[in-house]
Amino acid sequence: MAIVSSGSGSAAARGPRQPQRLVDPAAHANEKSSEAAPEAPIQREDSLRPRRLADYIGQRELKQVLGIAVEATRAREEALDHVLLYGPPGLGKTTMALVLAEELGVRCRITSAPALERPRDIVGLLVNLEPRELLFIDEIHRLNRVAEEILYPAMEDFRLDLTVGKGTTARTRSLPIAPFTLVGATTRAGSLTSPLRDRFGLIQRLEFYGLDDLQAIVLRAAGLLQIELDASAALEVARRCRGTPRIANRLLRRVRDVAAVGGHGRVSPELVHEALSLHRVDGRGLDASDRRLLHLLQHGYGGGPVGLDTLAAGLGEDPATLEAVVEPFLLQQGLLQRTPRGRVITEAGLAHLQAHPEPSAA
Ligand code: ADE
Repeated sequence: MAIVSSGSGSAAARGPRQPQRLVDPAAHANEKSSEAAPEAPIQREDSLRPRRLADYIGQRELKQVLGIAVEATRAREEALDHVLLYGPPGLGKTTMALVLAEELGVRCRITSAPALERPRDIVGLLVNLEPRELLFIDEIHRLNRVAEEILYPAMEDFRLDLTVGKGTTARTRSLPIAPFTLVGATTRAGSLTSPLRDRFGLIQRLEFYGLDDLQAIVLRAAGLLQIELDASAALEVARRCRGTPRIANRLLRRVRDVAAVGGHGRVSPELVHEALSLHRVDGRGLDASDRRLLHLLQHGYGGGPVGLDTLAAGLGEDPATLEAVVEPFLLQQGLLQRTPRGRVITEAGLAHLQAHPEPSAA
């Protein structure tokens, strides 16, 4: 599986100086999907990815819809319709693209929109596709206009319209390409232009995972990592991973470290608690950054409302980072509210803060 890689959306929003959080849903640098070259090392997240639909836990509707499409496509011996996957980071969009390729028996080329800066970047990928291969474009909402216009005829008619020459001698040449499947992934479906969105035959949302599915994912990963883990310990990891398998697997590796260093055998729920408390991840998956925000909101501004910029300045964070990385989970959990007059802590947020008093240190 080839890759033309570049930084992820929230990493870009975070800026270069912020450390990566254990509970950040965006992929850490060592978790990005790897290059197709045979000598490329298998990346950490890759080693835990399910390879077939049958191994993919959760996202029932998504699996059902894509399973039917794959079966029908195989029977027709055609390329699968273009697929748009959207939803929060870390829920398995890249994994699903790789699973689809495996099910179809074809290769998947992986890239991301920010890596397709020049027209030749996307043209190079498209002309080199073999029939029925998958092209996965992450963060597809960030595609530039020129790349997007190259994609339209490619998606619709498997054709590239290339301009040859300049000025009055410029002419358009059409070049056929192999029938292929574009799998686009985005955290912001609303930011896609309608002409691009309309060219996807299958548009599917990935949802946060429920506790049962997360527990099963943790147990599966523990098996692959050869960690002996009680089902109740897996549930404790599941409770702390913010509905996100990528975070679950990351937390599990930290638990494994503590178990190994402490010479523990089977991992118990108590050991999970101890290991993740060390990283200041609490029983609900909030980390120190989350609690600092709630603490400042309550004790610095009487619970709000307070503007994003003021809050960010008080925390020494960049407002865009705060909004894109720290706030979404707090909002989703009903611990924080955005109102027209600013951020407000909720009753649940206050209760959480009281149960987890956090000193003002970072
Ligand atoms: N690892 C990460 N996501 C997974 C999923 N949905 N099913 C199984 N294993 C996973």
